[in-house]
Amino acid sequence: MALVALGVTGGIGAYKAVEIARGLQKRGHDVVAIMSHGALKFVGEVTFEAITKRRVITDQYAPGANADIEHISLATDIGLLLVAPATANVIGKFAHGIADDFLTSLYLATRAPVLMAPAMNTNMLEHDAVSRNLATLTARGVRFVDPGQGYLACGWVGKGRLAEPDDVVEAAHHMLQPSGSLLGRMVLVTAGPTYEDIDAVRYIGNRSSGKMGYAIAAEAARRGARVVLVSGPSSLPAPPGVELIRVRGAHNMHAEVMRHAAEAHMIIMAAAVADYRPAARASGKIEKSDAPLELALVRTPDILADLGRARTGRSSPLLIGFAAEVGDPVARARVKLRLKQVDMIVANDVSRPDAGFDLDINAVTLVTRDGEEALPVAAKTAVAAVILDRTERLLAAV
Ligand code: CTP
Repeated sequence: MALVALGVTGGIGAYKAVEIARGLQKRGHDVVAIMSHGALKFVGEVTFEAITKRRVITDQYAPGANADIEHISLATDIGLLLVAPATANVIGKFAHGIADDFLTSLYLATRAPVLMAPAMNTNMLEHDAVSRNLATLTARGVRFVDPGQGYLACGWVGKGRLAEPDDVVEAAHHMLQPSGSLLGRMVLVTAGPTYEDIDAVRYIGNRSSGKMGYAIAAEAARRGARVVLVSGPSSLPAPPGVELIRVRGAHNMHAEVMRHAAEAHMIIMAAAVADYRPAARASGKIEKSDAPLELALVRTPDILADLGRARTGRSSPLLIGFAAEVGDPVARARVKLRLKQVDMIVANDVSRPDAGFDLDINAVTLVTRDGEEALPVAAKTAVAAVILDRTERLLAAV
């Protein structure tokens, strides 16, 4: 199952996009509709909202649209950008890189494949300007579902009618078939903080947002892997195509990781797992008093070290850990690489203003037995791609 961004632009065929959305859902895909101003003249957004069960995106500058994580992360989350019907106008904008609304900006921002189903008057379709734009997009890798022949809404008979919804769905589904460098692999990723309960209302947590681990899980799924993401408390939505298992404390995370470890080809521990938990969880709520309150803490299981121990004598699964350090992260990462018996430590210096918790960017150094590689500051999605490139190389050597 993938998330499909369905761009609907202003043509009489816009009503058929409702059927396309339904068809995609029947094939198991999730759909988010993006309507241009022109499309809204033909069909109401409520129709798409009711079908897709998601808020329809109609305006880049609508209040809320820029704070809504689902909208912001759309470019990286979608498996396909489908535009149906695609007018001459949107085809022209895509061809020339004009980004004056959400849909045209999304086209530039996403790395997902793009499929367009043009629909327009015959003369428009045959116009030299449109033909050239179609050729530009084809050369850039955009795929098309050709318009059909027949009676056009403008009264003409000719080519230009939006392709049949079933054909558009079929073409989209075909493009979404899994492929990629991690096809056939199982990647287990952990992300987020853990919460260790003190009593019924309080817990010990940390500042991890889960963004790095979620980005790795999303990228691994895009590369065709089966991905199980074991996540501590995080407000992030499940990346498309990823099996998300939500946990709370380190013990819980340990159990879920161990349950899936045997099937994994690669385990990436991006979670910031608590090293200590309260020795006992108080029943109810601890009432305050004037006396000092002492909290006894005990160690949690070290999940990564347990995985390293369990793997002794074998090279699979590949084990990758993270190390959040303050100051020089590499020396400590090297020690952890050896002690935890893992293949790579992704070290980040969380005291840097451009790296670490709750940011969209990160600066990390990849430490392996063979050396170290400092990556430049980049978006966590880009860092995730490099981490997977390097781990794929290690996987090939196993
Ligand atoms: N980890 C784990 N289980 C724990 C603690 C950590 O699996 N109970 C994993 C983390 O997911 C991460 C790596 O081990 O991949 C971090 O190692 P850790 O030794 O805990 O380092 P930090 O917490 O970064 O630093 P410190 O050494 O100060 O604890």
